Amino acid sequence: RCGGLLVRVPPLPAAGCKVSLWDSDEPIPRTDLLQGVSGAHGILCLLSDRIDAEVINAAGPNLKVISTLSVGFDHLAVGEIKKRGVRVGYTPDVLTDATAELTVALLLATARRIPEGVEEVKNGGWSSWKPLWLCGYGLSGSTVGVIGLGRIGLAIARRLKPFGVKRLLYSGRTSKPQAAEVDGEFASLDRLVSESDFVVVSCSLTPETQGLCDKALFSKMKKTAVFVNTSRGAVVNQEDLHEALSSGRIAAAGLDVTTPEPLPTDHPLLKLKNCVILPHIGSATYSTRGIMAELCANNLLAGLTGSAMPSELAL
Ligand code: NDP
Ligand code: DGY
Repeated sequence: RCGGLLVRVPPLPAAGCKVSLWDSDEPIPRTDLLQGVSGAHGILCLLSDRIDAEVINAAGPNLKVISTLSVGFDHLAVGEIKKRGVRVGYTPDVLTDATAELTVALLLATARRIPEGVEEVKNGGWSSWKPLWLCGYGLSGSTVGVIGLGRIGLAIARRLKPFGVKRLLYSGRTSKPQAAEVDGEFASLDRLVSESDFVVVSCSLTPETQGLCDKALFSKMKKTAVFVNTSRGAVVNQEDLHEALSSGRIAAAGLDVTTPEPLPTDHPLLKLKNCVILPHIGSATYSTRGIMAELCANNLLAGLTGSAMPSELAL
């Protein structure tokens, strides 16, 4: 079992290894993690487990492999891990479709004010059909800007284009040949945010992208723009986002990721009607999570036996 999921593991030479399991959906307390990893050859972790020098030291010299049930690896101290010759497995590709689909759902829910509408039906706010009541913004004829046209960014762009998107801009460190498929135009971040009606963040969290979406960025966006983030919460300065949303500097935001997670229920962003927040469910389909779990287990076993991993992170 892994994170509460059943994993089908094909017979491999590593079958028969001793497994110490944290058998709960809730994150393992730090002290249990530090004790539990002692002497381990492999660690299977979730994105909620911070695997830093302390954990690696606690594991000791046996440690050969860390396998994370995620494509994001910002919770892993990659420098330390590399220094000690430990291999890392992760789960790219298999969650791309599910995450792109959720991003489109969140964008539409935010732009068309769906949670607000559902609430109005329940609380009696729906008095009659009114010409401008609960109006939002549509994708047809719009410009969409994707910050980080990686696997998920491209999959989001592919899904948005058929809604009648007129122009698709993307930013990143390098231009991408695969952007041609969606008529994507490589743009500076400044140009992307000032020309887009929808700004979608799908980059990885790195020292360079941490806090990238801040007051300066929001101040360049259109007042009618909708901002969506399904990458990592720390890419956004949440205080600046709150200010931009509450002052009407931008129209609305949809977030699947926040800092911290979970977001405290009294957080100011949760009081805003123009902010739709989901609990980090981008990859949450039964089938995707099952495939992720299987890949994660197979990465771990390959790391233990010293063979080629199905998905190894290049360190
Ligand atoms: P990829 O590695 O394929 O894509 C990451 C992209 O980030 C790359 O295209 C890279 O562009 C871009 N990037 C890096 N630095 C910058 C920068 N400074 N400015 C703009 N773009 C930048 O990863 P995936 O698409 O598979 O996943 C992306 C992220 O999505 C994950 O790291 C994870 O954090 C998040 N995620 C969230 C999920 C959820 O449940 N909400 C589910 C799955 C993933 P370049 O090549 O030009 O550097
Ligand atoms: C990831 O894989 O990085 C997501 O955040 C969860 O699937």
